[in-house]
Formats: sequence, structure tokens, C-alpha cells
Amino acid sequence: MQGYSQAAENNKIPIADILGRSLTLGASVLEIGSGSGQHAIHMSSAFPNITWLPSERKALMPVLHANLAMHGSSNIQPPLALDLADFTWSDDLVDIVYAANVMHIVSEGLGERLVQLAAEALKPSGLLMLYGPYKYDGRFTTESNATFDQWLKDRDPASGIRDFEAVVAIAQAAGLALKEDYGMPANNQMLVFQRA
Ligand SMILES: C[S@@+](CC[C@H](N)C(=O)[O-])C[C@H]1O[C@@H](n2cnc3c(N)ncnc32)[C@H](O)[C@@H]1O
Repeated sequence: MQGYSQAAENNKIPIADILGRSLTLGASVLEIGSGSGQHAIHMSSAFPNITWLPSERKALMPVLHANLAMHGSSNIQPPLALDLADFTWSDDLVDIVYAANVMHIVSEGLGERLVQLAAEALKPSGLLMLYGPYKYDGRFTTESNATFDQWLKDRDPASGIRDFEAVVAIAQAAGLALKEDYGMPANNQMLVFQRA
């Protein structure tokens, strides 16, 4: 496995538990920022009746391609080159848009674009599922998340843990209503939005 992520290995099972509650037979999932593809590989194997469409920025596609070729199941579609900075959805609509640990990596503007893109790509009553850490009332949920936020900003000042309330407002403006906010292991959340 190239570009292996221990975090993705640790969180794939609790994420699958939440994802599984929303998957209907034959559901189509678009993943944004698939990285090494570990979630794509795990979810498509755990849920053989769904179709998983991974995506990643062009520069990182070779790693994703290699991992999917080695470990992927037949219900994973060929990955899409998708950079939030310059992508508009023009394909068939999907049931779920899923992004893990992307909102705090990209700038606020690209995070907003992710949510808007989800609204463009989702079927009526489709779901946007955002996994990662968030702040509430301007506060980090734990000291370790505050330390993580500083580490992110030292690397890239445009990145950082986002405010839950701001993400909910962006989603609302895009026609997506908050449905669930699940507390997840290691100080993360799974925010689930539904197309109104
Ligand atoms: C922390 S990694 C998460 C990877 C994977 N989803 C996981 O949970 O292990 C953040 C991902 O966001 C992707 N990303 C960063 N900027 C992006 C952009 N402008 N458009 C699309 N994806 C982007 C990165 O390439 C990377 O795969």
C-alpha cells in the first residue's frame, strides 16, 4: 500500500458503521479527497452492493491508481481527477458524497466549494457526509485538537479545523440541511447533511 495512513486504518471501521446506516442497495458514493484509497477499498469491500467513485487531485492519482489496482474490489469505479479549485459536476447524480479529513486540510474557500459541489452532485434527498474534527462555539472539543490545529496552520496557514456552525451555514446556503452530528473516536465527528 503506497501512501499508507494509520489514521485511515484506525477510523475505517467506525466510519463504516455510520456509513452503513445510510446506504441503500445499489447506492452510489462519490468520495472527495480519497488519498491512499484506504476508505474506498474498505467500504467497497464491506458493502459489495454499492458503487464507490473515488477522486483525488491529479498529482496524487498515481498512488491512488496503484493501491486500487492492487487491493480494490470490482464495485470501485475508476478514480476521478478532481481538484476542488476547478471542478464542476456534470456526471450522473449520486446518493452520497463523502469526504474524510478534507475540510480542515483545504482552505475555507475550497471547503465551501466542496459543500457546493456536493449539492450539485447529489440526487434529491441525497446525503453529504463529512468526517473530521470541528470546533463548536469557537472552541476546540479537546486540547489535542487545538494542538492539531496549530500544527496544520504551521504547515499551511489556509488550513485549520473549521467551525461546525460555519459549515452548517454553508451547507444550508447550498440547500443541505444538517441531519446528524455523530461523535466519533479520536475527537472527530461525522456530520451528515441531507439535500432539502
Ligand atoms: C488528510 S488527507 C485525507 C485522505 C483520506 N480521505 C483519509 O481520510 O485518509 C486530505 C486529502 O484532501 C485532498 N485534497 C487537498 N486539497 C484538495 C483539493 N484542492 N481538491 C481535492 N482534494 C484535495 C488531499 O490530496 C488528501 O488526499
